[in-house]
Amino acid sequence: MQSAPTRPRILTGDRPTGKLHLGHYVGTLANRVRLQQEYDTFLIVADYHMLTTKIEGLAEVQENVRELVLTYLAVGIDPSITTIYLQSLAPEVAELNLIFGMLVTVPRLQRVPTLKEQMRDLRIEAASYGLLGYPVLQAADILLPRANLVPVGRDQASHLEVTREIVRRFNDTFGPTLPEPDTLIGEVPTLVGTDGQAKMSKSLDNAIYLSDDARTVEKKVMGMYTDPTRLRATDPGHVEGNPVFDYHDAFNPDKAEVEDLKTRYREGRVGDVEVKKKLARALNEFLEPIRERRAAYEQQPELVERVLLEGSQRAREEGRRTVEMVRGAMGLNYNFARSAALSR
Ligand code: TRP
Repeated sequence: MQSAPTRPRILTGDRPTGKLHLGHYVGTLANRVRLQQEYDTFLIVADYHMLTTKIEGLAEVQENVRELVLTYLAVGIDPSITTIYLQSLAPEVAELNLIFGMLVTVPRLQRVPTLKEQMRDLRIEAASYGLLGYPVLQAADILLPRANLVPVGRDQASHLEVTREIVRRFNDTFGPTLPEPDTLIGEVPTLVGTDGQAKMSKSLDNAIYLSDDARTVEKKVMGMYTDPTRLRATDPGHVEGNPVFDYHDAFNPDKAEVEDLKTRYREGRVGDVEVKKKLARALNEFLEPIRERRAAYEQQPELVERVLLEGSQRAREEGRRTVEMVRGAMGLNYNFARSAALSR
């Protein structure tokens, strides 16, 4: 009998730090939803990674974990085909992290741009060993199920470089064992904020959340930054670099309407209010099915817990297999007569 062809694998995920926004959707969530049939997909809720910058005041972690899983389900991740799991419930990741830590140098990790950004943004004077090792732990996440593809936002690209270097170093040293994963960045790698700043982000307070209700979306859109050089609706306006049009491009499926608005905007024949009203409508049409799915999932009290427990069990099984392969390749697979007594 021929065994069923195994699908290539995805691993990706997020830290449980709160709500996700439109930038997350176009940066990575859309890819995850689109590819979940084609790829055997693992989504990690990275609670250990959260500890790299926050080790106290963790009261809301449980709530944030639930929020993240509900968001995955709301955007269309299907828990019957996708494995959603909690990083700390698959502790094999710690063993991989330890081994991978030997395959990358400290200066290499110090050059990772997100480290400097985080230290600056969070006013961290000296990085902890764990924060420096953030990309190593991420490599361990990705290799735990031996993933081939990692859909992420552009800000994560430098971490995946580290993953690939660790894999190459491992395979060069111990023989071909681990897959070298590819990065997949979304159609809109960096969505601008509602205030026109380069990036939509919670800390900049310029985000539209996937869980925002219709009124909130409308309010945020009507207050959006637009072309500052345009004083009246009859002035010719700028479409390029105008966040209102960036959002139309990303979320309004009516391309003819968008083209018409752009033409009239450039010629000074449409006001900002009309362009924004149409954007708010398009965004709310996009968000409505997400809100509905979320409400339906929220009705199922034990669902999130069950999804995470089942997912974590599967992740652990894969993790054990990987650890065995890794230790085997390294010659660390001691064959003690009584080793069965140590097995977990
Ligand atoms: N570092 C990612 C972020 O902050 C979250 C993450 C943890 C992740 N482990 C991962 C993403 C593995 C992709 C693969 O968004």
